[in-house]
Amino acid sequence: MDIPEQARAFLAAMRDRWACKLYDGRALAPEEESLILECGRLSPSSFGLEPWRFVANRPGGQVRQALFEACFAQDGVRTAGMVVAILVRRAEAYDPDGPLVLQRSARFPGGHPVFRADFVGYYEFLKAEGRLEEWARAQAYIPCANMMTGAKAAGIDSCAIEGYKEAEVLAALGFDPDIWRVGIVVTFGRPAEPVREKIREGLKAISEFK
Ligand SMILES: Cc1cc2nc3c(=O)[nH]c(=O)nc-3n(C[C@H](O)[C@H](O)[C@H](O)COP(=O)(O)O)c2cc1C
Repeated sequence: MDIPEQARAFLAAMRDRWACKLYDGRALAPEEESLILECGRLSPSSFGLEPWRFVANRPGGQVRQALFEACFAQDGVRTAGMVVAILVRRAEAYDPDGPLVLQRSARFPGGHPVFRADFVGYYEFLKAEGRLEEWARAQAYIPCANMMTGAKAAGIDSCAIEGYKEAEVLAALGFDPDIWRVGIVVTFGRPAEPVREKIREGLKAISEFK
């Protein structure tokens, strides 16, 4: 079977993406910023609730300095053309009758009554297991991955950043820690270091069909 051209281009972006840890410090073009954020916006979320907020930051200024310190002084955060913190709401926000769920569900066919009937069982399950925030945070990795691959397709490098102090990231960005959690942080920009070779296990070593 022939692999369609679009899929080849997608795979090339996946193959060429690498974790850049030192950038040239230049801001991205507005179109590039928008492209990356659009890749986040189009990402799927559980029940379509879009639990996130993408908080972007350009180079220079106090916010960047505070983010740098909150991320254990990683040079990639200091020098990136754009840093995006993917925040997700705390557990209380997913109440089936709360304002977020009311607003999000109103967009779907059948509105809140239909949505609620579908959602409430899973919500109660997650709540009983104490997993609501784990569920919300896990979702942040989807826009993170899509933004990184989308950026690479546009010739922009990136790195996911798990090395952060959550309270400090929220304080740097001015978000209330009683309402928000950090899902993950991502840096974007043009490299000021050589490309590192991709090291991966072969497909046979990490996958199987049953
Ligand atoms: C969830 C996640 C968190 C990461 N956190 C950091 C980080 O805090 N600092 C860092 O330098 N690299 C971080 N990385 C980059 C990884 O080290 C890198 O992606 C991995 O070694 C594979 O290399 P490659 O992306 O160049 O293929 C992170 C990657 C992922 C996926």
